[in-house]
Amino acid sequence: MMYASTGGTAGTGNAPGRGQWSSGLGFILAAAGSAVGLGNIWRFPYSTGENGGGAFILVYLVAVAAIGLPVMLLEISLGRATQKNPVGAIAAIRAKGPWKLIGYLAILTGLGILSFYCVIAGEVLAWFADYGQRTVTGTSMLHGFGAGPSIVSFVLFVGLTVLVVAGGVQRGIERWAKILMPLLLVMMIAVTVRGLLLPGAMEGVRWLLMPDFSKIGWKVVLEAMSQAFFSLSLGMGAMLTYGSYLSKHQNIVACGTWVVAFDTLIAVLAGFMIFPAVFALGQEPGAGPTLIFEVLPKVFAAMPGGAFMGMAFFFLLGVAALTSTVSLLEVVTAYFVDELHWSRRKSVVAMGAATVVLGIPSALAWAGVDPLATVRILGQDGLFSLMDFLWVNISLPLGGLLLCVFASLVWGLDAATREIVSSAPRFAAFAGIWRFFIRYVCPVFIAIILLTRLVPV
Ligand code: TRP
Repeated sequence: MMYASTGGTAGTGNAPGRGQWSSGLGFILAAAGSAVGLGNIWRFPYSTGENGGGAFILVYLVAVAAIGLPVMLLEISLGRATQKNPVGAIAAIRAKGPWKLIGYLAILTGLGILSFYCVIAGEVLAWFADYGQRTVTGTSMLHGFGAGPSIVSFVLFVGLTVLVVAGGVQRGIERWAKILMPLLLVMMIAVTVRGLLLPGAMEGVRWLLMPDFSKIGWKVVLEAMSQAFFSLSLGMGAMLTYGSYLSKHQNIVACGTWVVAFDTLIAVLAGFMIFPAVFALGQEPGAGPTLIFEVLPKVFAAMPGGAFMGMAFFFLLGVAALTSTVSLLEVVTAYFVDELHWSRRKSVVAMGAATVVLGIPSALAWAGVDPLATVRILGQDGLFSLMDFLWVNISLPLGGLLLCVFASLVWGLDAATREIVSSAPRFAAFAGIWRFFIRYVCPVFIAIILLTRLVPV
């Protein structure tokens, strides 16, 4: 919420009192803050590791270009055209019939993602505290975080998110993010260089750059597509909501393309930060969600001033995660404030509480006390991967698919095109291709991938 939320309404056609980004750069920073997070640095590497390395990255890049970018432009333009939260945006165009369900799915998915995302962000927080302590005292006390600390750090992170969204530090976080996000990039480059210098690292580079095409199957394609939605914050109206605060003068195509490019760059860099080290240290690339927490501490141990580097890195990663959880909670909050007329404070506190209730099982599962240890649901191993599967592999692509259908059948791609072209005249030349993607390529492709994965289960 790095927009001016009070008073700062410019006379550019936005609803009075709703607030607006101060500039296109303001939008890019906020949207990039939403997009860049654990998705790039935690999920992208482990997903790459589980799905065959270079081949996965290749499929991922295709998914970003062919589905991510078109849907990004659609979400931003629908948000700016209606200036509403996801439910309100759909209702503004078609109040009757089942279409509003797309909006409700978005709100539910936001809470679902928050519930497990904050567990991982809490783990990042715990590592930050652990390294902080090592920096000061030279020893580690927190090691081997159990169920208790896992729940505490999870609840703490939800609390941080609630504080920011409630409005206390709105201006603060924008200023901080401007400095800290570039710093994270610099830090990632430093860690990458250290990893590349480890003996045996080149095997990891080869593994990243040489796609083994035999690894590509339906599961890999589904995983790459879901990862694209997750990493770009698409499929649940986050970019729609941020787009609703964008001025009519700003170029949607330029803004959207920058966010996509930056997010993708950070993800690929994270791959190069992790995998050379994985191979050099003889770790298992397919280790799953714990991957970065097993590998990075070993790289820090090999760096001069490793404890301080670890502390700084996990701090910056925590900030990146915070700008993402803020966007998730902001969407949910915008719905309760706009549609149900709750106060901002009440919405934020209630939804923070809901996130905690929903997330406790995930926090337990993360700490090894898995409520689903003995049952397999939808072919997933344990509760944590079930949450990930439901919200990321199914809900997000489904949300994107339904939005494409809504735009094609109800809103109309002419109206969408007009919204984009009004501030990006040169887009007119590409509008035909874009409409073809929104009308046919994206929905049909997503539907096929979802079906092939869901039907056999
Ligand atoms: N994109 C963020 C990340 O990569 C997570 C995120 C924030 C998100 N907002 C979202 C994912 C909305 C899906 C939808 O860490």
